[in-house]
This record gives sequence, C-alpha cells and structure tokens, in this order.
Amino acid sequence: MRSVGIGLASGVSAAEVLAAVDAVLPDPAGPVALATLDSRVREPGLVDAAGRRGWPLTGHPAEVLAGVRVPAPSGAVARRVGTPSVAEAAALLTGGVLEVGKTVHGRVTVAVARLPDPAHPAAEPPGGTVTPHDAPHPVGLRLAGRRVVVVGGGAAAHRGAAGLLAAGAQVAVVSPDVTPALESAAAAGRLTWCARPYAAGDLTGAWFALAATGDPDVDAAVLADADRERVFCARTDGSPAASAELPVTGRAGDLVVAVHGADDQRAAAGLRDGVLAGLADGTLAVRRREHGRGSVVLVGGGPGDPGLITVRGRQALATADVVVADHLGPQPLLASLPPEVQIIDASKLPRGRSMAQETINDLLVNHARAGRRVVRLKGGDPFVFGRGYEELQACTAAGIPVEVVPGITSAVAVPALAGIPVTHRGLTHEFVVVSGHLPPGHPQSLVDWAALGRLRGTLVVLMGVDTAPAIATALIGHGRAPDTPVAVVTDGSTPTQRALRTTLADLPATLTQHGVRPPAVWVVGEVAHLTSAGRGRVAACR
Ligand SMILES: C[S@@+](CC[C@H](N)C(=O)[O-])C[C@H]1O[C@@H](n2cnc3c(N)ncnc32)[C@H](O)[C@@H]1O
Repeated sequence: MRSVGIGLASGVSAAEVLAAVDAVLPDPAGPVALATLDSRVREPGLVDAAGRRGWPLTGHPAEVLAGVRVPAPSGAVARRVGTPSVAEAAALLTGGVLEVGKTVHGRVTVAVARLPDPAHPAAEPPGGTVTPHDAPHPVGLRLAGRRVVVVGGGAAAHRGAAGLLAAGAQVAVVSPDVTPALESAAAAGRLTWCARPYAAGDLTGAWFALAATGDPDVDAAVLADADRERVFCARTDGSPAASAELPVTGRAGDLVVAVHGADDQRAAAGLRDGVLAGLADGTLAVRRREHGRGSVVLVGGGPGDPGLITVRGRQALATADVVVADHLGPQPLLASLPPEVQIIDASKLPRGRSMAQETINDLLVNHARAGRRVVRLKGGDPFVFGRGYEELQACTAAGIPVEVVPGITSAVAVPALAGIPVTHRGLTHEFVVVSGHLPPGHPQSLVDWAALGRLRGTLVVLMGVDTAPAIATALIGHGRAPDTPVAVVTDGSTPTQRALRTTLADLPATLTQHGVRPPAVWVVGEVAHLTSAGRGRVAACR
C-alpha cells in the first residue's frame, strides 16, 4: 500500500495529476491512496484523477499536516497554506516510510510513502512516521565500531563528532572544510575526513548520520537520503524533520544522563546539569544493586559538620543499603537517609558503651555477603585512630570488595576550625598526632613520650581528655617548657564547638575548671597561641 501526497494549484487537470503520480510510482504500484490539503480535496482535476483509478482521496487540515515531520519543509509553502509541507506531510500522515521525497512535476507536487504490509507488519517498521504528538524515543545507541557519517565541518559538526567518537563510533566527516580540531583528529587517524561536499551515496553502510552543515538544503538532502536508506539521522539545526534527535548528555561514572530538550536545549542542559550535580554531591540518591554482590565502603565522615564529608563519601552514602555508623562524624547525614536504609549504631563511647570491633567486622562482612552495599561511616579519617584498616582486613579476608574513602581528620580540621594551624612558617616545621588513649607508662602504650617531650614543634593529642594530666606531666618531665601554649578544642565543627587556651602546666586545671568532656583535640606548641583572626597571639585562659 502506498500513500501519495499531492500538492497542487487550483485548475490542474486530472491528466496532469496522473502524470505526476505515475512519474514517481513504481510499476506495478499496488494499492494506492491519495492525500492532500483539505482546501484542495475538491479540486475537480484531483477528484477526477482519483476516480479514474479508483484511488481513495483524503483531505487533511493544514494544522494537522504542519505537525508532521518531513525532510523538506518549506517556509514559503507554510506562509501560503499554513503548513511547511503538503505532499510529504500528507503522504506520511497515514503512517509509513517516505519512499519518494517531494517531487515537482509541472503544477503538481507529489511524494510517496510506503505503508506497512498488514500481512507482514514486522517487515515494515514505522521508521520515519511521525505524528503531531510524537516524542523521541531515548534509545541508547551502541555505536562502537560502527560507521557514522557527519556531514559538515564547523563547530556543530565538531561537537557532534566528539560525542560520537567518545561512543567509539567510526566517524567519517564529509565537508570541504573542517575545524582545526577535526583536522587534527583526522590526521591522528581518529576519524576519516572526506574533504569534499556531500554526495548521494555517502551514507552507504552507515548506522547513523548527523547533518551539521548549517545549510538547510544540504541538511535536508542528507536527511532525505538517510530516510531512504533507513539510516537514522539527526540535524544539528534542531529541525523537527529529522528522524533522530541528539540529547544533551553527561556521564556520572557508568551512568549516562541524556535529556531530550526538543526545541529547548538550554532547559535540557539545565536538567542534565542538575542531575549530574546531584549525583556528584550525593544529594541525588541512586541506590543500585551491585548485581547481587555486596560491597563495603569505608567512609571518613570528617569531624561532624555534614558539609565536611568528601563528595565521594556523600556519593557512597547516597547509594548505601546499610550504614554502620560511629557517634562521631556527620550525624545529621544519618537523619537525611531514607527509611529503607538500615542504620546500625556501632559507637564506641570513650570508656563507655562500645560495640566490639569483631562484631563490627562481622556486621560489615555479613551484610555485604547478603548482597548489600554497606557504608562504614566513621568520624574523621578511617585510618587515623579509626581501626579502619582492621575493617579493611576483615573484608578482604572474606573476599568482600572494599573501598576506602579518606576523610578530613579531626587532628587537623578541629584545630583549624578554631583558627589554629598545625604548622606555621617560622614557628614550626613539624606536627605529630598522638593518641592519648593510654597514659604514659601504660604497658601497652606504643608512644615514645620522652621523644615527644623533646619535640619543639606541634603536638596534637586525640582521645586525651582523661589522660591529659599524666601526659602534661610526662611532656614537662621530658623537657617541654611548662609555659608552652596549649589549645583545647571540643565538639569541633558542631554548634557546641568550644576552644580554650592554656599552657601545658595549667592544662589539668583548665580541663577541670571548664568541665571539658570528649570529644576534644588539644594542641601543644607555639601555634596554639595564634588567634583565629590571624593577628598575633591570644592571652592564656586560666
Ligand atoms: C577514635 S578517634 C577517631 C579519630 C578520627 N578517625 C579522625 O581522624 O578524626 C576519636 C577522637 O577524635 C577526636 N575528635 C573527633 N572528632 C572530633 C570533634 N568533632 N571535635 C573534637 N575532637 C574530635 C577526639 O580526640 C576523639 O576522642
């Protein structure tokens, strides 16, 4: 079945109509139907021609024809009759593939669309058929190793070719001139450049084509050839006639974000950017199964402010099925997790309730073995007094894939948030971070307190509130001056953050006087005397 679209002037004879139609129809043509603009459907010559052959004749309103995508729209025709195409649009409106594009024969214009064979519908896919309401199907083409033809050599062609090359396509650029970047890609063998105007036959063997010349006539010719050869073709000028539409795209890991914006590319790009930004900072949660295989991500959550977790850490949280969390770190982020995410409290309170490390290790391994994506959310950095490496070892021994996402350690960040740099040119060229968990002299202590007493630089003590008096005594006993400045910072980065200034000799009294409780970081050394305003030193608090 063929649908012949007809555009004609008034007063055309039946002979003229039939001559034009016969010129484009194959012989034998099989069943034929004629279609035209409704204001022409009563033209005597047309009615007579249809009657002589026994062909049905249908008229369509201009606004309906205007909604049909055609290879060769005409502004002049649109101005005259209200639709940029009569013959092609009328032929295509009944469904089918354009077989013969707009052909002018005397005072008659004809176009032919071949309709699906009802007996073999699968043999006649409806490619090229469009309706006023059609929207592009966002199919993802796998173009790696497949021939793609880009017609044009300017900026639009360059941009299109870059995307196609990124998809691994074998790109052939057809254009007398190209941008320097395209020329260099051709010289490097990344694409083929045919340095001449487009010619019929260039699309042979192509899976996809991009008409990007900026010349509407050439782009329309490329599209018409592509339609004939059943090659999907996009136009960079955004013509709705094209059989394909390039979306604006972006990548987030192995996810591809593609937005079809129709005639509003700016809106499409804005949506694409919003999605990518959300995926990048983890505010857009994408929970993905790891193909039945669980995993563990050890995430350093930073000192507590949710803004001080890394982007990668936030991304991991956004994809977690289970979060095993400490009491330190960004607690507000836990509240923002959706209800389906299981949160397990694995806090170790200083000298208080504490989940055994073996239990934590088992939790990580067992949840991952059950196919879940587990995030172990820890305060600061997982490998700074965080037992993160033990958890990594447990997972590795169990064959669980494990990733480490470093965090901002409180050892540096908490002093910094109180305006104290752990190094400062001219004051100190070193800083040592030490655990005060075990006091000097404890049989299991691995710290050389004598060496630290001789240290001239910055000493940062973590987990050292209860042991501070013993540590201060040891440091002074091993040579550190009693009036060495000390800064104590509690609840760093949280709304209750507090900083106290004192000296090594006065540290025990200061802690008692101010009722200091963990978590606290204290800093020994000249830097502890610097002010957050950067103007010299602060007076000690006594
Ligand atoms: C078990 S350690 C964990 C350290 C952590 N992995 C890191 O890199 O910051 C806990 C100690 O870190 C320090 N700490 C952690 N967060 C803190 C905060 N927000 N304010 C003050 N000290 C903090 C305290 O000394 C606390 O006792």
